[in-house]
Amino acid sequence: MLILGVETSCDETAASVVEDGRTVLSNVISSSKDDFSASGGVIPEYAARRQIECMLPVLTKALSDAQCDPEELDAIAVTHGPGLLGSLLTGTTTMRVLADLWKKPLIGVHHHQGHLDSIWLDLSENEVTFPVLTLSVSGGHTELWYRESHTKQTQLGTTLDDAAGEAFDKGALLLSLPYPGGPALAKLAEKGDEQAFKFPHPLAESDNIEFSFSGLKTSLKYLLRDLPDASEKHADIAASYQRAICLHLTERVELAVKKFPAIQEIHIVGGVSANQRLRTLLTDTFTLPIRWPKKIVYCTDNGAMIAAAGYFLWQEKKIHRHWKTEASIQLQN
Ligand code: KG4
Ligand code: ZN
Repeated sequence: MLILGVETSCDETAASVVEDGRTVLSNVISSSKDDFSASGGVIPEYAARRQIECMLPVLTKALSDAQCDPEELDAIAVTHGPGLLGSLLTGTTTMRVLADLWKKPLIGVHHHQGHLDSIWLDLSENEVTFPVLTLSVSGGHTELWYRESHTKQTQLGTTLDDAAGEAFDKGALLLSLPYPGGPALAKLAEKGDEQAFKFPHPLAESDNIEFSFSGLKTSLKYLLRDLPDASEKHADIAASYQRAICLHLTERVELAVKKFPAIQEIHIVGGVSANQRLRTLLTDTFTLPIRWPKKIVYCTDNGAMIAAAGYFLWQEKKIHRHWKTEASIQLQN
């Protein structure tokens, strides 16, 4: 089954053709991220305009890279939210028109469901054993999910304030690094000593599966303000700050694993799952199998994960009737 997946929730215009939810035949991503390095964050109106410019060229390339004629598609999947309104409207409106023209079913996909399903891309069938604990960490959300099948899942917890990616991005801004801050901060941290500075331990006394990053960001702010010669110690500071974020994430995963002993595997998805320190910390902490998306481009926003999510919604729930019905589908059953 061939699905064209389209993702336009923020500053990426992305389209991909995926076969049976796993085999990626094309994956085209045009990003306006670099345009925001000076502003330190996305400007929604500008991102929406870039979406309009990129939409048709990206779609055309995704189809031609996959050597796929629109007639051969079985369905179209598109992110219906959450995200920046103008950016989302570009994708959803374009795909509604094309679905009508091409007479293809249209599947609305929750952006977070797309991230959860990014794990299946390039994976062979039956490789994963359910139930799975998934840590989904991006610039917009930080969530832990208990997954019993591709579409049956329960959210165990989320963040009380900032998302993990936001903690990276805001920390990077304080360290005068360009947007998006996660990769830049991780790169700087490679040269630093992560034991050099102590950061607070968020929610140390709490037994609830939830996250909090705003205290770490505030500590970083005051450390940079109060430390003599702080600018000469940026690499050590970045490494220590990154460690604090990764430790907090890992501790909450540990808590969930203790509470749900049936868990067979741990997955990490979303932009922050590209972080090497997080990957090694999780691998060192658990004996359970740990997986992250097969490629870095599947961690950050992409159309392939939306196609995969569309495929499993279709397969397991037969959700492919009408846009309005599909738009209301939430992550949980
Ligand atoms: O999933 P994504 O592309 O978009 C959202 O849905 O938000 O995630 C983007 C986030 C940004 O906050 C970015 O700084 C972070 O993922 N990120 C990283 C790394 N690569 C991307 N954070 C830490 N280390 C990385 N290597
Ligand atoms: Zn995302």
